[in-house]
Amino acid sequence: MLTAYFSHSGENYFSGKIIAVEKGNTAIVADKIAAMTGCDLFEIKREVDYPFGYRDCVKESRDEMASGTRPKLREYKDVSGYDTVIVAYPNWCGTMPMPVFSFLESTDFAGKKILPLCTNEGSGLAKSVSDIKKLCPKAEVAEGLSVKGGNANECDDDVRGWLYNNGII
Ligand SMILES: Cc1cc2nc3c(=O)[nH]c(=O)nc-3n(C[C@H](O)[C@H](O)[C@H](O)COP(=O)(O)O)c2cc1C
Repeated sequence: MLTAYFSHSGENYFSGKIIAVEKGNTAIVADKIAAMTGCDLFEIKREVDYPFGYRDCVKESRDEMASGTRPKLREYKDVSGYDTVIVAYPNWCGTMPMPVFSFLESTDFAGKKILPLCTNEGSGLAKSVSDIKKLCPKAEVAEGLSVKGGNANECDDDVRGWLYNNGII
């Protein structure tokens, strides 16, 4: 199994406050999944980093989304050697950050099982799962897990339950 994740370090919004973090919420959850399952990890990174500042980052992500941009990635990953791929990402303006779109379109997910995991500040999975289904029509897309970003350090039980329900552990 592979866990492919996108996560933004720098400023982010936590329960009404802007705080700078060195490690993003989704990266924290992805590391937990790797520790629980022994899966491979792949970080989806845009070729050019997003701005450090929260407001600049929101603006840039909105512009990319509005224009349907598929940003270039620093590295690409072939998923042919995996049966199951967890795709973990933050909710950015109602769906996944556009580099996750680039990743999903860059390799063949036919016949694979995708497990979506979305960290967010309250909007849940929003449109992300239906977007994954559109981008990977030949994959089996399991029920996604929503994790409150600010609870990333304390989400072990929820993540373990979701992995168990999906037959991973
Ligand atoms: C550009 C941007 C847009 C965001 N949009 C939303 C949103 O629409 N709904 C929501 O609940 N949280 C939103 N958030 C909050 C993140 O989804 C949440 O903090 C997430 O856990 C961040 O994960 P990360 O630290 O791994 O990047 C947004 C954060 C950023 C930086």
